[in-house]
Amino acid sequence: MEKNFKRTLITSALPYANGPVHIGHLAGVYVPADIYARWLRLKGEEVLFIGGSDEHGVPITLLAKKEGVTPQDIVDRYHGIIKKSFAEFGISFDIYSRTTSPTHHEMASQFFKTLYDKGEFIEKESEQLYDEEAQQFLADRYVTGTCPHCGNKGAYGDQCEKCGKDLSALELIDPVSTISNSKPVLRNTKHWYLPLDRHQQWLEKWILEEHKEWKSNVYGQCKSWFDMDLQPRAVSRDLEWGISLPIPNTEGKVLYVWFDAPIGYISNTKELLPNDWEKWWKDESTRLVHFIGKDNIVFHCIVFPAMLKAEGSFILPDNVPANEFLNLEGNKISTSKNWAVWLNEYLVDFPGKQDTLRYVLTANAPETKDNDFTWKDFQTRHNSELVAIYGNFVNRTVVLTNKYYEGAVPERGELTDYDKQTLAEFSDTRNEMDRYLANFRFRDALKEVMNLARIGNKYLAETEPWKLIKTDPERVKTIMNIAVQICANLSIAFEPFLPFSTDKLRAQLNIGRYQWNEIGSVDLVAAGHKIGAPELLFEKIEDDAIQAQLDRLERIKKENELKNWKPVSVKDTCAFEDFQKLDIRVGTVLECKKVPKADKLLEFRIDDGMGCRTIVSGIAKWYNPEELVGKQVCFIANFAPRSLKGVESQGMILSAVNSDGSLAVISPSKPTRPGCTVE
Ligand code: 2FM
Ligand code: ZN
Repeated sequence: MEKNFKRTLITSALPYANGPVHIGHLAGVYVPADIYARWLRLKGEEVLFIGGSDEHGVPITLLAKKEGVTPQDIVDRYHGIIKKSFAEFGISFDIYSRTTSPTHHEMASQFFKTLYDKGEFIEKESEQLYDEEAQQFLADRYVTGTCPHCGNKGAYGDQCEKCGKDLSALELIDPVSTISNSKPVLRNTKHWYLPLDRHQQWLEKWILEEHKEWKSNVYGQCKSWFDMDLQPRAVSRDLEWGISLPIPNTEGKVLYVWFDAPIGYISNTKELLPNDWEKWWKDESTRLVHFIGKDNIVFHCIVFPAMLKAEGSFILPDNVPANEFLNLEGNKISTSKNWAVWLNEYLVDFPGKQDTLRYVLTANAPETKDNDFTWKDFQTRHNSELVAIYGNFVNRTVVLTNKYYEGAVPERGELTDYDKQTLAEFSDTRNEMDRYLANFRFRDALKEVMNLARIGNKYLAETEPWKLIKTDPERVKTIMNIAVQICANLSIAFEPFLPFSTDKLRAQLNIGRYQWNEIGSVDLVAAGHKIGAPELLFEKIEDDAIQAQLDRLERIKKENELKNWKPVSVKDTCAFEDFQKLDIRVGTVLECKKVPKADKLLEFRIDDGMGCRTIVSGIAKWYNPEELVGKQVCFIANFAPRSLKGVESQGMILSAVNSDGSLAVISPSKPTRPGCTVE
């Protein structure tokens, strides 16, 4: 259903204020939302872009406890860090506020109260774990115990990290409170639930029939929620940190963080526009778009719309362009494992290179599936696209215009067929970009702009004005005029994606901001206009800067391995006589080579003191065959021979299994005669 909207309200998920933001946040939510906002503004549309920190919820209280500070201390610290990072990366929020603001507390309380008074909730009593020592109910995260699925003794109440299963604290065997280390008891508690089942019918019609244009990952996830039938969801929690329930006799209860957080979008709008906020939330001619990551889909497509509908006076989102996840060097980004590129740290290592990250994260955005960020790809895209194409083209244009014409843009003469062909190639860029951006296809839109830069770069490379200047200076005037016009076009088209370098570009061309619909024009800069001095838009990223990042990740991997390593439990008691049955001996490696067509296997010829024997061992991943020749090893001499990949192995070489799973061959600590026994 095409609607005639007058304005667009853009929201981006409110990040939890319990850690800095990383590249996954930027790629999944904030860069696309920012591109979208900047694009609409350039088109002259009425836009509001709302952000803020999500400052309630259990993880914040856990972190506060761990550090011995208050939850308020935690959110003050991270709200500051996050807000600064977003500003540094040019995320152009109209407001970035927080859910601890008085406006939000009032708005969220009022929202709950309205629904409560309208009878939109159901009340239910249930049994929950209660810590008698600490005198409080325990959120799932506050409980550890034994996983009922895999027997892991240190499982958390919401999830077992060993087998990955989602849990509820009530399922844990031998639960323990992490607050007091005591055994919790079961106690009755009352909570309020939003009966999503009552909303299923209209939600299904609204999404599945009326919003078929939503991204397939979003549409598909909604459909599977509907297929499972929606259930009532609790909107209150027993917790000290949060927004108190605005109804009598509910001490110690707060709004569930997922109830209050999305209301934050409304409160922040009100904080910015105290007298004018309602037109953004209650007028059908406002188009509401939520930018989020895939883990937030159910809340933004189902729960929040049900809340808005139940309240009765708000509009519903027109689109929810959720992205999938970004991985880092093949592994899931993880805050607890420090497996991330933190925005605040990135800027220390790559000062001034915000646009590079914005570029790489957009070019490789996880729009339809999870994607991987690698430092090699980051370097390649920077050096061979931003530097070699966009930067190079702009630099040649500015340098040559200064050199040949003292910076005054020359008059254009008659166009050749090649000029016309070049101009025709980019005349359609704006339409293409509009089509992509309207459909949240930011990667494709960026490709279009880069293509424009490529056209410019190719134009100069093929017309070679630096050669023609001696033989046909009139022709060079036309070429340079066209090159300047293409640069000016790039200053508009790149603006939503790379705002910092377009600022630099405008300064070099000595031009102001154009409108979006001027893309495609070849008359943006008048002949005679004086451009500024050249300055490189991008400088090459050298290998050592990339290696430093890879080394850091390698270090983190090692640290995590050490942190997570637990000794394998000791096996059942073994009789000495049983041990004696094994004949372990020392041998010297005479030869060692790879076994053909078997990645893991090495074939050894061993001097065993009695002659020579062949042993095949699965350690090829950790050794080059040459480095083992001449070494002494310990091996089991009395195993029955067996064939491995066609080679008969007469024994087994002993190795230690390291914490990362790698193998290290065992050798006697002093030279030992081959054939001696190990006892
Ligand atoms: O997943 C998250 O990081 C949540 N803090 C997102 C909240 S979005 C909105 F509801 F505020
Ligand atoms: Zn488990």
